[in-house]
Amino acid sequence: MKFIAYNVRQDERAYFENWSQKNNIEIKLVADEVTSENLSLSKGYDAVISFQTGTYPADLFKTLAGYGVKDVSIRNVGVDNLDLAEAKKYGITVTNVPAYSPNAIAEFSVTILLQLLRNQNIFRKRMASNDYRWAPFVGKEIRALTIGIVGTGRIGKAAIDIYKGFGAKILAFDPYHDPKLESEGIYVDTLEDLVAKADVLTLHMPGSDKDGHLIDAKMIEKMKDGAYIINTARGSLIDANALLAALKSGKLGGAGLDTYEFETPIFNHDLNETGVEDELFKELVALDNVVMTPHIAFYTEIAVENMVNISLDSAKSVIETGTAPTLVQTK
Ligand code: NAD
Ligand code: COI
Repeated sequence: MKFIAYNVRQDERAYFENWSQKNNIEIKLVADEVTSENLSLSKGYDAVISFQTGTYPADLFKTLAGYGVKDVSIRNVGVDNLDLAEAKKYGITVTNVPAYSPNAIAEFSVTILLQLLRNQNIFRKRMASNDYRWAPFVGKEIRALTIGIVGTGRIGKAAIDIYKGFGAKILAFDPYHDPKLESEGIYVDTLEDLVAKADVLTLHMPGSDKDGHLIDAKMIEKMKDGAYIINTARGSLIDANALLAALKSGKLGGAGLDTYEFETPIFNHDLNETGVEDELFKELVALDNVVMTPHIAFYTEIAVENMVNISLDSAKSVIETGTAPTLVQTK
């Protein structure tokens, strides 16, 4: 049995090497993410261990099947960029790491909300120009707010636990009702209901390029005036043009964005030489009421170690037994 891992960062290498030694399984480490050009490196390997937020080659599964690859184990949660029907068609098993650390993302989503509520962008800029005045940027406390959680899965639940600690009022929308949360009476029936009641809307559901934007201009119009939106889920969920318009007009109070609709050519790249060409991105980032981060909510020591170890355990299990506890199911 031997594996190939793509998009391997420096901070992951030791975890790969330790697992390889412990399990006596060869792993080829490739620094680049999977592209049409480097897919041929997978020839003869049993499993591909991958990790990327952007697009995979369209013929990924067909080509891998031709190379004899039996399994693709991704080191992250979201499978929205993988064509699972194709995987099925070509008989390739797909696993993910559904829970490498839901707390990492939940904590981060609260962190960016706190920065917005206490006007951190503005005070940082003021201090940089020796202006140490307070007014008129009085902050808000979380306990005074209604938090609207969209998606009460692993990360949504972890966020709820944190917000409970702050003493916030919590409401949620999810087509699937968690029995414990149901008994606490936090669910509303529709997303429209939630956005009408929430001071903060925080997204914790999967992304999909098929259903269009969950949050578009119409949905934003239904939100409370001055409400905040936090997105650590997927950029595809929010119409970024509509969001910019609502932030500029004052309809929305602020946005905390760890994901962005057109993030692939920008996030996790060093663009110091070329700069960013995306004008929409530049306008968003320049706003005082936007906290934008480059998809780093997941990026903690605990999460990185789990991502590597669980993806490798999954690949080993698939090759040895044909299945794994982390099998990705097509719905
Ligand atoms: P999960 O599968 O445990 O939970 C997702 C929840 O969303 C489920 O309860 C599901 O019923 C619900 N849902 C599905 N469609 C919905 C809809 N239309 N409206 C409301 N709820 C809906 O997933 P999770 O582990 O909580 O992760 C959520 C998402 O967070 C992932 O899919 C991924 O896109 C994103 N994520 C981001 C980062 C990051 O670093 N920023 C890291 C990990 C995951
Ligand atoms: C995920 O695990 O789905 C994430 O969004 C993290 C990412 C850097 C791939």
